[in-house]
Amino acid sequence: MRRSFWLMALPIALLATAAGVVWGLGDQTARPITEVNVQVLGPQRLGPLPPVIAPPGNPPSSDKIRLGKELYFDPRLSADGTVSCATCHDPALGWSDKGPTSKGIRGQFGGRRAPPVSNAAYSPLQFWDGRSPSLEDQAKGPIQNPIEMGNSHQAMIQTVSAIDAYKEEFKAVFGEGPITVDQVAEAIAAFERTVVTTDSRFDRFARGDHNALTAQEKQGLEIFNGKAHCTSCHWGPYFSDGRFHNLGVPNQDPKNPDVGRYAITKDPLDMGAFKTPTVRDAARRAPYLHDGSEKTLESLIDFYDRGGGKDPNLDPLMVPLGLSKHEKAALVAFIKALDSLNPEVADVKPVTPRGLAR
Ligand code: HEC
Ligand code: HEC
Repeated sequence: MRRSFWLMALPIALLATAAGVVWGLGDQTARPITEVNVQVLGPQRLGPLPPVIAPPGNPPSSDKIRLGKELYFDPRLSADGTVSCATCHDPALGWSDKGPTSKGIRGQFGGRRAPPVSNAAYSPLQFWDGRSPSLEDQAKGPIQNPIEMGNSHQAMIQTVSAIDAYKEEFKAVFGEGPITVDQVAEAIAAFERTVVTTDSRFDRFARGDHNALTAQEKQGLEIFNGKAHCTSCHWGPYFSDGRFHNLGVPNQDPKNPDVGRYAITKDPLDMGAFKTPTVRDAARRAPYLHDGSEKTLESLIDFYDRGGGKDPNLDPLMVPLGLSKHEKAALVAFIKALDSLNPEVADVKPVTPRGLAR
């Protein structure tokens, strides 16, 4: 893991720059929010997220964002008109689903939990194994994934092109010419970049409102950043290092284990390693981990307190923590203070795409 860290740091930095996404640029002007171990535990302080910067090839506009939002909620993108992006990434369920893994077209289940779409704009690589370099690239996948939306790109484009309201909207955003799958993906990605946490009680505290957190939540923050060293991996405004770690999550099917990042890099140190998810909004999207195996925040904290699971490739940072009952409760309270309060994340209502009767 430590070796792959350095090997990966450069390509990730390049990718992040290529995608134009501000990542790795913490708000350097924010006041230090805790003195504990900041320098040792993470290269970046916790704090409010910086503004999202869109890649140069996909500049946002209000029309593009609205079109992307309609497409995001439109089940007609799937083969039988039953599954939209929001089916598995539902704003009301923390932009995930009820899990443990996702139900796609014709009632089929995949092997992994749906990660949140909220704040995904800050992730340098998409998916649990990081196999996709951008939101634009990612958005094309589920449409033709046989157990997600089960469609072909060609059939999806035919459907969308036959809807008058869409014809007008695509023309207004992308100009004349046939609708393409890249345009669909660009519009969806532009919408996703608006689903960003600009406000939570933690952010208010980090911006200087000392009463925004309770005493217990402040204690939880100290433990998150200190005794429990959660910030070794969940650091910076995004509460993630964007890297991959093996926490020893037991394999659901030992004969056919999910190898995680290893499938992409073939680096033995990546065996069973998964991307560090953001902790923002975690309280809204139980169950947890790549297979949804931990049902509550409390059971997840117990898992960390034991030093994770057993695995020959367990990350060296996973050690027993010796947390007391009170300390565990404080950690849970702090995580709840990371829930978004801004309407872009917390109150997004499904839109009915134009021309779709409900
Ligand atoms: C059937 C459920 C399902 C549908 C439908 C679906 N997704 Fe997902 N999504 C998932 C799962 C499961 C993953 C994780 C898969 C993996 O890591 O291998 C995922 C991963 C993602 C990610 C990566 C997030 C991260 O942090 O890595 C994004 C972004 C995303 N989906 C957006 C979309 C968009 C946009 C659509 C519609 C075009 C969509 N999804 C449709 C289940 C679904
Ligand atoms: C060694 C790095 C590392 C450390 C230390 C760590 N985490 Fe994690 N965390 C991860 C990774 C990687 C995952 C996903 C693992 C998986 O699914 O296999 C994760 C998952 C989570 C999730 C679930 C999020 C979701 O959407 O499913 C939460 C919440 C969380 N961690 C909180 C914490 C807290 C609280 C601590 C401190 C007690 C902590 N983490 C310490 C790397 C780490």
